Amino acid sequence: MRVFVAGASGALGIRLVPQLIDRGHEVIGTSRSPANAERVRVLGAEAVALDLLDPGAVRKAVLETEPDAIVHQVTALAGVRFSKHLDRSFAQTNRLRREGTDALLAAARVAGVRRFVAQSFAGMRYARVGGPVKTEDDPLDPTPVETMRETSAAMTYLDEAVTDAGGIALRYGNFYGAHNDGLLAPVRKRQFPIVGNGGGVSSFIHLDDAAAATVLALEHDGPAIYNIVDDEPAPVREWLPVLAKTLGAKPPRQFPVWLARFFAGEAGVMLGTESRGASNANAKRELGWSLRHPTWRQGFAEAYATPAASTSEPRSSAPANVDRPQSASR
Ligand SMILES: NC(=O)c1ccc[n+]([C@@H]2O[C@H](COP(=O)([O-])OP(=O)(O)OC[C@H]3O[C@@H](n4cnc5c(N)ncnc54)[C@H](OP(=O)(O)O)[C@@H]3O)[C@@H](O)[C@H]2O)c1
Repeated sequence: MRVFVAGASGALGIRLVPQLIDRGHEVIGTSRSPANAERVRVLGAEAVALDLLDPGAVRKAVLETEPDAIVHQVTALAGVRFSKHLDRSFAQTNRLRREGTDALLAAARVAGVRRFVAQSFAGMRYARVGGPVKTEDDPLDPTPVETMRETSAAMTYLDEAVTDAGGIALRYGNFYGAHNDGLLAPVRKRQFPIVGNGGGVSSFIHLDDAAAATVLALEHDGPAIYNIVDDEPAPVREWLPVLAKTLGAKPPRQFPVWLARFFAGEAGVMLGTESRGASNANAKRELGWSLRHPTWRQGFAEAYATPAASTSEPRSSAPANVDRPQSASR
């Protein structure tokens, strides 16, 4: 197939392009900045500079390149400072999830592109009731924390728009596996605390496994939604000390809820105490997906227990992170 990867220069895009090429697909890869187009070209794709918020340009690019499939991997999270008010940090990404998705779907319709896969997110979205691990059929949180309402709504918008059009939305876990992952700096600096009992559950996914699932989703008929997460959803109190140790950092601080609310806001408290994890059973069964990094326990060690990983600074802040309680940590 000819696959149009919107966001080919991003954290996931640069893993996805080589896997698609290895699988025998031709890739057209977009970046926003012409400078990053070179990065995409080096990966073996035909590079196109594109602003996803320009529907005319999106339509032109899709019509000119004549793809068989489109993948939407565009976010605007590099360099974002995550604040207590998640909706502010995610404002541009939310636009890309709404207007960007609409532009790509409209272009797909005009160009007769039948396969469409888009990046969604599994963390902090499922209803905070019942068991700790949720399937795609479980309800989403009907009352998201106020500071992340628009972010939740934008993800739901994307899920619905994509599946209504017959495509596949992939609810990825927290990405890890790159030397500049957003979690590394706050954990190293003890700015990511265990909140309360640390019972909020996170689901992780190694970037290589996320890319592999995306390739399979492109070859699969929609509509569908899949959680693309590893086998071991885990409470913050379990994974955070392991990550800190792997990075050679001091153990994480422990914050009572009231203190975390002050520094990290309601979303940070929710992430640390109430968030639910996600099940990958459907993706494994229906996509035939298997993971090279089935759990973060092994994956963190492989990704970070090297001098390069443990000394490099990230270029962006943590995904779904809490605000950095800097004054408390100094
Ligand atoms: N599930 C998760 O945990 C999750 C999800 C997403 C991101 N993240 C994390 O967030 C950090 C930053 O992500 P990232 O490296 O993928 O960077 P990013 O800034 O989110 O960019 C992703 C892609 O979108 C493109 N893009 C951005 N704005 C665009 C626009 N208006 N029109 C068209 N394309 C646009 C970028 O192009 P340019 O390269 O030219 O800017 C890039 O190809 C990474 O650490 C990543 O792991 C985590």
